[in-house]
Amino acid sequence: MSNVQTAPQTASTHAADAAGPTPAAESRTRTLTAAQSDYLYPWVRPYYGEPLALSRGEGVWLTDVDGDEYLDLFAGILTTSVGHCNPAVVEAARAQMERLGHTSALYVTEGQIEAARSLADIAPGALRTSCFTNSGTEAVESAVATARLYTGRHEIVALRLSYSGRSTLTSHMTAQGAWRLPGGGVDGIVHARSPYLYRSPVGAGPEATDFFIDDLVEVIETTTGGKPAAFFAETIQGVAGVIVPPPDYFRRAAEVIRSYGGLFIIDEVQAGFGRTGERWFGIEHWGVEPDIMVMAKGIANGFPVGATVTRPEIAEAWQGPSISTYGGNSISMAAMHATLGVMKRENVRARAAERGAQLRAGLEALKRAHGWIGEVRGMGLMQGIEMVEDRDGRAPDGARAGALLEAAREERLLIGRGGLNGHVIRIGPSLLISEDEMEEGIRRLAAACRRIDG
Ligand SMILES: Cc1ncc(COP(=O)(O)O)c(C=O)c1O
Repeated sequence: MSNVQTAPQTASTHAADAAGPTPAAESRTRTLTAAQSDYLYPWVRPYYGEPLALSRGEGVWLTDVDGDEYLDLFAGILTTSVGHCNPAVVEAARAQMERLGHTSALYVTEGQIEAARSLADIAPGALRTSCFTNSGTEAVESAVATARLYTGRHEIVALRLSYSGRSTLTSHMTAQGAWRLPGGGVDGIVHARSPYLYRSPVGAGPEATDFFIDDLVEVIETTTGGKPAAFFAETIQGVAGVIVPPPDYFRRAAEVIRSYGGLFIIDEVQAGFGRTGERWFGIEHWGVEPDIMVMAKGIANGFPVGATVTRPEIAEAWQGPSISTYGGNSISMAAMHATLGVMKRENVRARAAERGAQLRAGLEALKRAHGWIGEVRGMGLMQGIEMVEDRDGRAPDGARAGALLEAAREERLLIGRGGLNGHVIRIGPSLLISEDEMEEGIRRLAAACRRIDG
């Protein structure tokens, strides 16, 4: 293993000073929080009753404006895939900035071609043609536009509980009320049931897959004109609370949409780039090849890159004109190239499987200790803890999940939250997290759980 991920201190040194925010941190944070609400839209809303203002990072460690240090198991929403300020990524971006910063997509750049080539190398099957934008939202928009142009059709079947972005279209592909832009829906988007086994009305056995697939067919038959352009799904629904579809779901869903003449689009914004362990992309675990794939977040370790990848004959349908001023820009492409290089050298697919198993064992132990953990689920380094009032009734317990987020912060541990009721804790650290760091993370999480027991 290279030293790119070496933490500034050992995990045990970090453990020693995990005693909660200092008074100085509170006052500086308060000043910044007040300024934030003076100058920024209210929707730019940070976590925590008293928001956290961060100023430095290295690997899985973050330091706030007053010098308190946190262990980060959420990675800026599963995005700093090879760790904060990974030296190889920082150096690649810095060197590119010194050589040539912005040109716009009006000119050919080697970096963009190389980035597309490296995606073609790792994308499943015949997927080899890419376009680059600046966010997951734009990558989803591009995927939908591609499917519509290729099929000459309009309607998109998405899944309930999904999260697809913040534009007008993608916020209405999103099927969680709170995340949709107000003011009505967008034409041509319908939603089938999320394959949410824990809350399936027919249980979690094999009949559940039949139930979800039947619903997909019914939605197409009853709420579209029978000619959908595409079925669109996240491999693992992240914002929904790490919902992992059953093993045969995607193969059968792809068969259904193709039988109606539509394409199968998979969103790997959260699950991609080794996070699920063993494979580059989550969908490979389901053994089905999508027609279009959407990527962002972990692709460039925090540099703004969205990618839409498809087969050449499908991409051919979009002749343009269309442009993204910053899409595929040299600096982001250099960062992406460096990120993928680190991922290959460090074998993140194997590491995510190993550290994921370690994390999962730790979370299962927490479930045994606390009756309010209804389910632990996920793959590799994308795991969730569903919190319930009790295991029999399974009523979602968003209040306790909120308390756990705050308690973890007191333990100087950063985790995430999701679920329709904010009742799922989400964990998705850098894929380079070490065994000791993971152990320390589990220890801090256990301490946070004890704080909110009772
Ligand atoms: C699955 C998925 N798709 C798309 C997006 C939108 O990405 P962005 O916030 O980069 O626009 C997100 C963001 O969380 C996501 O989780």
